[in-house]
Amino acid sequence: MLDSTFNQAKAEAFSMGLVEVFNKSAIALALSIGHRVGLFAAMAKQPDLTSQQIAERAGLNERYVREWLGTMVTGRVVNYFPETLTYQLPDEHAAFLTDEGEYNFASGMQFVPVLAKVEDNLVECFRNGGGVPYSEFPRFHEVMAAESSQTVVAALEPHILPLVPGLTEKLEAGIEVLDVGCGSGQAMITLAAKYPNSRFAGYDFSEEGIARARNEAAAKGLTNVRFEVRDAAAIGETAKYDLITSFDAIHDQANPAGMLTSIEQALKPDGVYLIQDITGSSYLEKNYDRPASPWLYTISYSHCMTVSLADGGAGLGAMWGEEKCVEMLHEAGFQKVDLHHLEHDFMNTYYIATK
Ligand SMILES: C[S@@+](CC[C@H](N)C(=O)[O-])C[C@H]1O[C@@H](n2cnc3c(N)ncnc32)[C@H](O)[C@@H]1O
Repeated sequence: MLDSTFNQAKAEAFSMGLVEVFNKSAIALALSIGHRVGLFAAMAKQPDLTSQQIAERAGLNERYVREWLGTMVTGRVVNYFPETLTYQLPDEHAAFLTDEGEYNFASGMQFVPVLAKVEDNLVECFRNGGGVPYSEFPRFHEVMAAESSQTVVAALEPHILPLVPGLTEKLEAGIEVLDVGCGSGQAMITLAAKYPNSRFAGYDFSEEGIARARNEAAAKGLTNVRFEVRDAAAIGETAKYDLITSFDAIHDQANPAGMLTSIEQALKPDGVYLIQDITGSSYLEKNYDRPASPWLYTISYSHCMTVSLADGGAGLGAMWGEEKCVEMLHEAGFQKVDLHHLEHDFMNTYYIATK
């Protein structure tokens, strides 16, 4: 028997929304696969093509490509011309599904299957607490490096470095730079190549991330960058660096307070700590209308929070929020903290912290 207050129209509208969730999550997976097998690159800037032609261009099995195109067409990603049985990726869509445009969402969608891989582990954690360690996330560092090259590397020169007045001149003259939680080292490798007079370092506790960084730096013949496996909470250096950065690397730490204190200590008295971290408020109600909140809370419990808890850590999570970040920076000894929101990267806040 339904409650008399039960609003049937509201329930039906909600259920239609849930059908959309089925569709959108299906499209997310298809975008990720399409990116990995090169289908968007094969279709971009091409006239309409048959499924056979698309499969040949991408070097793939036609039957799979044709069914995938079914998702793409009904999902309104790709146009279909039934008279000629041909398909076409509009330029406006290719601009956000390939590496040619300002952001490749198909690459970003790879996080969906990366996170889904640990569903069984998460179910266990929901029941019994604890966490899922980094080692359980296959492809994490590879997908993170792709994300970093989009949101950080491409934006360093035009958007991020100018946040610190005079920084590019100092980098040209020669300074000491450290990136904490550097992952695959994309940012330091890019800066080391651009500023040969400066010396760069990247620390991360991931052997895989550091190996990837070292290999790339060696392949590029860079001699002014080093990468080391180190715990961010125990840097153990004093007043050494002019610039320390961390890109999306505080909130998933087991000991974020220790990391910030360690960074404050490693920074010279007039040094700058430049941080990129997920945009959001520490208060749930203030995140209600932000465009990517459900996505970010999901990334949080299924990766950022759980990897920290797996290490017996604080479990801040991706949605720790600007208020908490500023509070922790002050507690670590930073007197001045400026916040910036950059147009190219609506998912992150940039902080400039000084002693
Ligand atoms: C979200 S990833 C960001 C990686 C990189 N900064 C980027 O933007 O691609 C966070 C990084 O923090 C590293 N990390 C987590 N806990 C750490 C710890 N205790 N010490 C050093 N690195 C740590 C992880 O291994 C991972 O590479």
